[in-house]
Amino acid sequence: MDEAPGREADLARALAAHDRWRSRGVFNLLPSENALSPTARRYLSSDLAGRYTLPGEVEFGGEKISNSYGGTKFADQVEAIANGSAARLFHGRFATTRPLSGHVAAMAALAPLLPRGSKILAIPPTQGGYDGYAPGFLPALFGWNVRPLPASGPGHLVVLEEALEEIRRERPNAVLLGQSFFLFPYPLKEIAEEAHRLGSLVLYDASHVLGLIAGGEFQDPLREGADVLYGSTHKSLPGPQGGLIVSDREELFRQIDLSMTWRVLDNAHWNRIASLGQTLLELERFGPEYARTIVGNSQALGKALVEKGLPVIQGPDGFSRSHQLLLDRDVLRARHSVGPGELSLRWERSRLLTDRVGRLGTAEVARLGLTPEMMPRLADLLVRSGLAKERLAKEVASWRKEFRNLRFV
Ligand SMILES: Cc1ncc(COP(=O)(O)O)c(C=O)c1O
Repeated sequence: MDEAPGREADLARALAAHDRWRSRGVFNLLPSENALSPTARRYLSSDLAGRYTLPGEVEFGGEKISNSYGGTKFADQVEAIANGSAARLFHGRFATTRPLSGHVAAMAALAPLLPRGSKILAIPPTQGGYDGYAPGFLPALFGWNVRPLPASGPGHLVVLEEALEEIRRERPNAVLLGQSFFLFPYPLKEIAEEAHRLGSLVLYDASHVLGLIAGGEFQDPLREGADVLYGSTHKSLPGPQGGLIVSDREELFRQIDLSMTWRVLDNAHWNRIASLGQTLLELERFGPEYARTIVGNSQALGKALVEKGLPVIQGPDGFSRSHQLLLDRDVLRARHSVGPGELSLRWERSRLLTDRVGRLGTAEVARLGLTPEMMPRLADLLVRSGLAKERLAKEVASWRKEFRNLRFV
């Protein structure tokens, strides 16, 4: 018996249920995720989803050809528009939107610039750094010697004097900035000056904070001295899952661009690039207000949570200058005998989604229309469902209904 139609119906049901739940039924506080604008989401299902293009002259069988594929004249326009918007938003002359994710962007940006045996300084995962830069992962694949760039305290802050000391001691080929637990901007200008003086590159993984940078918040890495900026396009930047790379240094970008074809990538999912282009163009219009709202939400939510008894890390400049708050795990366990994993499960039962490692994100709720004035109400729901174990699914669902249309689109 042919069971395929039944399975197709199961698939359709599961997908529809997921879409209903995640697009309308919850408040999403995962800092690694975001909601696409309706237009950007629609572009993902464009005909481009099944097409190729590879602009660039190649020789094939004695003939010079300008693209290995036919039918690409509009696809190439789409890509050029997306790249142009990325270059404008992040203040570099050269940009590519081809990387399929933040991790792929890291490979494509770093591999051509750092030959085997290169020494890199990167923040360790135990101090908020990205796992991919730990010795067993990308460094093992590409033969890099990775040394720790310190980030201090429970907020994983990069302190200028400590960073400079390490750069002077290690004299690395590259200083790699960027974190997965990322609250405050870096003293980048001073770090870059010293790194450059000692002949080191400065590479900035903005996966988490790309949307804030696009909106003129957080920091402006290329203008503050980073040689290359790259990252994911779907965390604080509210685009489709993917990556981008921007630089103002032509000689570096040329090498990186070579890795786009037949090294790290071949096809680049041009429907995704169309969707990302739309997201970037929307940020050119609405980015500053969007980014300001996110940071305002972080500060207000941190304050309200602490007032209600949930411990949140504080830094020198308030709770956060980003789209993230970090729970103080030690205090949480000591005071409430609970860890972030169990807390996250309790929240999920009340339709409040977070990760299981103690981060709260304020980007997606900003897109839904939540503003700093509403953060005390959100904090109240988090504290009641998380610490007092109240089941608030109905109350949350009813509040969620008030936010039907995304803002900043
Ligand atoms: C700092 C940082 N870089 C890179 C990545 C990888 O991003 P992606 O999942 O887009 O590959 C992450 C993922 O969380 C990250 O936090």
